[in-house]
Amino acid sequence: MLFKQQALLRQKLFVLGSLAIGSVLYLVARVGTLDRLQPICPIESRLPPPEPEQIPLRTLQFKRGLLHELRKGNATKEQIRLHNLVQQLPRAIIIGVRKGGTRALLEMLNLHPAVVKASQEIHFFDNDQNYARGIDWYREKMPFSFPHQITIEKSPAYFITEEVPERIFKMNSSIKLLIIVREPTTRAVSDYTQVLEGKERKNKTYHKFENLAIDTNTCEVNTKYKAVRTSIYTKHLERWLKYFPVEQFHIVDGDRLITDPLPELQLVERFLNLPSRISQYNLYFNATRGFYCLRFNIVFNKCLAGSKGRIHPEVDPSVVTKLQKFFHPFNQKFYQITGRTFNWP
Ligand code: A3P
Repeated sequence: MLFKQQALLRQKLFVLGSLAIGSVLYLVARVGTLDRLQPICPIESRLPPPEPEQIPLRTLQFKRGLLHELRKGNATKEQIRLHNLVQQLPRAIIIGVRKGGTRALLEMLNLHPAVVKASQEIHFFDNDQNYARGIDWYREKMPFSFPHQITIEKSPAYFITEEVPERIFKMNSSIKLLIIVREPTTRAVSDYTQVLEGKERKNKTYHKFENLAIDTNTCEVNTKYKAVRTSIYTKHLERWLKYFPVEQFHIVDGDRLITDPLPELQLVERFLNLPSRISQYNLYFNATRGFYCLRFNIVFNKCLAGSKGRIHPEVDPSVVTKLQKFFHPFNQKFYQITGRTFNWP
């Protein structure tokens, strides 16, 4: 009797167990199917809602087509009037720093449909002769754009030229100012390399970097050497701060713009109050160049000129160390003022 009851219990347990396993297997299969058909939590609902379209993307095509024709001088006055094209004073200026990556920054920002770059360095505020020509001369140097776009120019000499902050302030006291910096010693060597190349092109000889950067009499860093002075970022910035509040400046990490440009560009988009439009699609690494290049669309892409990304000469490591020690306290002050810290030695 007992044996019969035990057998019955085992049978019941077996049936219940099978039912439980069957249910679990069914649920797994069902949820899997549902998951494929209709995600339980679609990824879009986890992202913030897309911002309203402020800049019509069709502008991008216009920009590459019509504005290009304009630059070549092919667009008619009628077209300019029809499309409401204007030459606008810049709403943001890349004021420096020379060899910091100013060209790369300008070209990369120009990928944004709301940005139009002035191709040439205008040197309006640092060159007395140009400045004397007046603001209309400056405006006429600006590219044509749609009224909702912003014009950006870059002239790295602005950062170090004494008169410039006051002159820019007089034009527009609320202008946005971009400064792109690199590790100061590397920047100084890059600066030297550019001058050296110019001399070599003219078959001229030139000093070694070490002999320019270090005063041979005192064995101290030669602060009269322009490439050294330019890298004392805080000294120059302090002059600017007599006219503009620190919030009007945005510091771009030029070293990161080389290795990973997109996050730097996204910070600039935010600073300029522009919707985020530059994407990874617009930037691709070119192994031959060793740099990121620009992709505007499926047919048009470009790398920067060969004069950007020169090979630097070897510098005596003791000179490098001396320079890095020299720049250190100035760098600390620069971090303190700007609120942007770098891993510079
Ligand atoms: P080097 O020539 O020392 O490498 P600027 O335009 O202010 O003169 O700066 C030139 C520097 O931009 C170059 O210095 C280079 O390293 C840097 N750079 C940053 N991004 C670049 C890019 N995508 N292509 C070429 N050079 C780039």
